[in-house]
Amino acid sequence: MTKVQGDILLEASDLVKSFVGGDGSELVVLDRLSLKILNHETVAIVGGSGAGKSTLLQILGGLDHPTSGKVLVDGQTLGKEKNQNLEWLRNQQIGFVFQFHHLLKDFTALENVMMPSLIAGNSRSIAEKRAGELLEQVKLKHRLHHKPAELSGGEQQRVAVARALCNEPKLLLADEPSGNLDSQSTEALHRLLFRLREVNGLAMIIVTHSKKLAAMTDRVLELRNGKLLEDGMESNGIE
Ligand SMILES: Nc1ncnc2c1ncn2[C@@H]1O[C@H](COP(=O)(O)OP(=O)(O)OP(=O)(O)O)[C@@H](O)[C@H]1O
Ligand SMILES: [Mg+2]
Repeated sequence: MTKVQGDILLEASDLVKSFVGGDGSELVVLDRLSLKILNHETVAIVGGSGAGKSTLLQILGGLDHPTSGKVLVDGQTLGKEKNQNLEWLRNQQIGFVFQFHHLLKDFTALENVMMPSLIAGNSRSIAEKRAGELLEQVKLKHRLHHKPAELSGGEQQRVAVARALCNEPKLLLADEPSGNLDSQSTEALHRLLFRLREVNGLAMIIVTHSKKLAAMTDRVLELRNGKLLEDGMESNGIE
């Protein structure tokens, strides 16, 4: 690791993830992979299609379990099944942004952003206040009551970013957040992510094919053959 100083926010040790294919053969996607992320650090993960980037992000965020190995977020284990902390960690400590926004289509922008706060047990007025502030931060104050279908692709993705930050997570995981946007919206989203990182004191792990986005982060890691290699900027799988 290049610079492991300060407080460690996320620590993944010896992660293995394997899938059994239709023909019964085993596919090892992550092969004893380890990773440390510091508070407020930003890391880009690059690598070819099928390298396992999405699989890794899902495991780091507790949306999927590793075959073996463990993930600690803020000192708490995430990788174990039936972990009572898992829901809490997922909802409170980690925000997700995906390539496609996954907004709820029948709810307005404001309601979509409020949802994680309501799920966390906050009152409607608290959730609405926080959601309103975040939508202002992502420059969508004029679109509070629009449903996803009434928003542009870039606007939808900004709502998804606001929603990811609703419970003030320490860590934002983004899987090709701009993969579905035109170049102008892509640049705007990238600038937005880094501005929000400053305002909200976030660490970010971003899976991306974009060289520009990767260059904005503190470290670029390449996922290859199930392991993370430093200085991924030199690699393929990035444009
Ligand atoms: N549920 C599953 N069952 C079996 N194989 C899977 C499953 N999920 C993913 N894989 C396989 O694991 C490998 C890694 O998939 P993953 O989606 O993590 O790749 P990726 O690096 O995100 O690729 P891309 O850049 O195309 O999004 C792929 O070969 C994929 O086919
Ligand atoms: Mg992927």
